[in-house]
Amino acid sequence: MRRGGDKNIVLSGFMGTGKTKVGRTVARLAGMAFIDVDEEIEKRSGMSIPDMFEALGEPEFRRRETEAIRDISAHQQTVIATGGGAVVNPENVFLLKQNGLIVCLTAAVKTILKRVGASGNRPLLKAENPEQRIGELLTARQSFYEQADIMVKTDGKSPRTVAEEILERVAAWDASGKG
Ligand code: S3P
Repeated sequence: MRRGGDKNIVLSGFMGTGKTKVGRTVARLAGMAFIDVDEEIEKRSGMSIPDMFEALGEPEFRRRETEAIRDISAHQQTVIATGGGAVVNPENVFLLKQNGLIVCLTAAVKTILKRVGASGNRPLLKAENPEQRIGELLTARQSFYEQADIMVKTDGKSPRTVAEEILERVAAWDASGKG
């Protein structure tokens, strides 16, 4: 199912909500291109995100994130998976909304904890009590995530099911003439 128009589908949401996996599936099903902002930052910087946080600090990561988003937002017919903190910066939201519909994936704290597991590649979740840390960050970011055009719950659903739900919701949005 190809979408009409050239608008991007932007996936936002907390770490562990499945943005990358679901994004790839949406792109495959819809015949769209796919780009993951974190992967793009890593490619451009020649280092992993945990290494970047460690060596350069979060502010420098955020600067590179906005730089990548500025370029990626100019793409068309692309599914864009953002990092979990991207929408906290209004500049990123402004850029992504110019040519994209923002779909926020949500999940309960327990689901997030299970999905991010002990992978160790989320510097912001390196805490004595990761469950508590997830809860705090989610609360602090809730109002930013809610700025999305569409919210989709992912608990207990496969990436394929979430992807199909997104495409149905996006099609309904397109048909409504809102975008
Ligand atoms: C972050 C989420 C990560 C990555 C970085 C910061 C965040 O992306 O951008 O570790 O602030 O929530 P994922 O949401 O893909 O894990």
